Formats: sequence, C-alpha cells, structure tokens
Amino acid sequence: MTTTERRLDTADLTERVKGMYQEVALHPDHDFHFETGRPLAERLGYPAADLDRVPAAAIDSFAGVGYFLDLAAIAPGEAVLDLGSGSGTDAFLAALAAGEEGSVIGIDMTAEQLAKATDLAAEGGIASAEFRQGQIEGPPVDPGSIDCVISNGVVNLSPDKPAVFAAAAAALRPGGRLAIADIVTAAQLPEGVTCDASLWAACIGGAMQRDRYLETIEAAGLEILEVRANDRYRFVSDRADDATRKYGATSISLLARRR
Ligand SMILES: C[S@@+](CC[C@H](N)C(=O)[O-])C[C@H]1O[C@@H](n2cnc3c(N)ncnc32)[C@H](O)[C@@H]1O
Repeated sequence: MTTTERRLDTADLTERVKGMYQEVALHPDHDFHFETGRPLAERLGYPAADLDRVPAAAIDSFAGVGYFLDLAAIAPGEAVLDLGSGSGTDAFLAALAAGEEGSVIGIDMTAEQLAKATDLAAEGGIASAEFRQGQIEGPPVDPGSIDCVISNGVVNLSPDKPAVFAAAAAALRPGGRLAIADIVTAAQLPEGVTCDASLWAACIGGAMQRDRYLETIEAAGLEILEVRANDRYRFVSDRADDATRKYGATSISLLARRR
C-alpha cells in the first residue's frame, strides 16, 4: 500500500519539494503556504529557553508543524535520527538533550537545508549533530542503531509513507521510540488535491487520513503510545486554508515504541 495516487508525478513532486525547502533554507523571510521561524516554534510550544540555545539562523528556517520533544524525552547518551531535519532546529535541540555522549543524525534530501544545518553545527560547536544527504524512505544509518527517531512536518511529504515508517522501525533498536509531529486529515483527500504538487509541497496534498496513518505506523512494527492534536498549528494561504477546512487537515504529535 502506498499513498501515491496514479496521476501524481513523484519525480515532479520531489523537485517541487526540494525547490520549496531550498527557498526556506536560503530565504526564510519569504512568504510560503505555511509559517516559519521562531514565532511559529514558540506558538507550537517550544520553550523559549531551549530555543535560545539553538543557532538563530536554524530557527529562522524552522518549518515544523508541532512540538513533540517532550514525548521524545531524549536522555543523555542516546542516539537520535531526525528524518527531514531541514535547517536543524529539532536536531540541535535533540543534540543538547543527548549531550556529548549522545549523537544525532539529521537526514534531508535538499542540499541547501543540509548545507545550512552542517554550517550551523560547525559554527555553533554542536559536534554531536551530523547531517547526511538521504531519503527518509531509506535513511543511510545502521539498522538497530537508533534509540529515538524524530521528525517534524516531513512524513506527509513522502509519497511512500509505509516505507518511511518501515525505515524508522529498522533504524530503531527494539524498544526504541518514534516521536514525531505531522499533518493528517479527517477525510481521505480526493485526487484533485493529492495530485496537486504545490499543495503537496505545502504539507497538505500528501497528508494521509488519520486512522490510516496510525495503522501504517502499527503495521511497521511500532506500538502507538500517545497521540495529541496540535491545535495551534495553522495553514496560512487561502488555498491551503480551504483544503484544511474541507478535509480536516490537522497537526498531530505522537509517540510510538518499536515492538
Ligand atoms: C516541512 S520541512 C521540515 C524541516 C524540519 N523538520 C523543521 O521542522 O524545520 C520538510 C523537510 O523535509 C525534507 N524532505 C521532504 N521529503 C523528503 C524525503 N522524501 N527525503 C528526505 N528529505 C525530505 C525537505 O527537504 C525539508 O527540509
């Protein structure tokens, strides 16, 4: 089972997603279909004192959809994998929680996001965070090597969500956690929306129906422990807002554990 509709051109989609997040990395002050930056992070519940410890330029390009690091509860010494790490806000916060004995690997397919996160890690002396080019459907990490997989606003962008959750489960050690925020919908989206690559790149067109999303996680061998709604996330363009109202697109944060 994949979420790819027959008429969605996935190669075109990938290029559009890369183009969109290249802009977010290089020109975070531009207008997007979605909010970005520190005001968004604070509204979603990121503690200001934690954000103060992260390079400000990373937070400028923050494009997450919810707070979930309390669910992740990353402990000193843990190994963390961030799927779709963007400019690095969550990866840097995870690195601070994991400490010098821990490690964070951020995976992203957009070169400009990777370069920005890598430069900021070097400038900020955050040696335990490393960023690798890759696809979240097959991240370049050793199987069973990760204590906690995190991700924020990314899985909805993948045309193959079962592959993403299978890859997360494969990366985790038994008992390891998946803690993420993402967009899901109340109703299955019609093809007019799922085949619209710009709505997809704006985190709506690729959103999976909520129950199917949770079933897909369970089918990958993960037990869902907690799901909560992020009521403070909102879409900003009229088109995005329209799709949100029609199909009930919402942000959730969740915690699951590898069986
Ligand atoms: C909405 S942004 C979120 C970035 C970051 N998690 C944050 O909260 O700021 C989505 C990110 O996921 C990356 N991405 C999307 N689909 C991907 C895929 N299939 N494989 C790897 N990276 C992907 C994009 O390049 C982008 O940096």
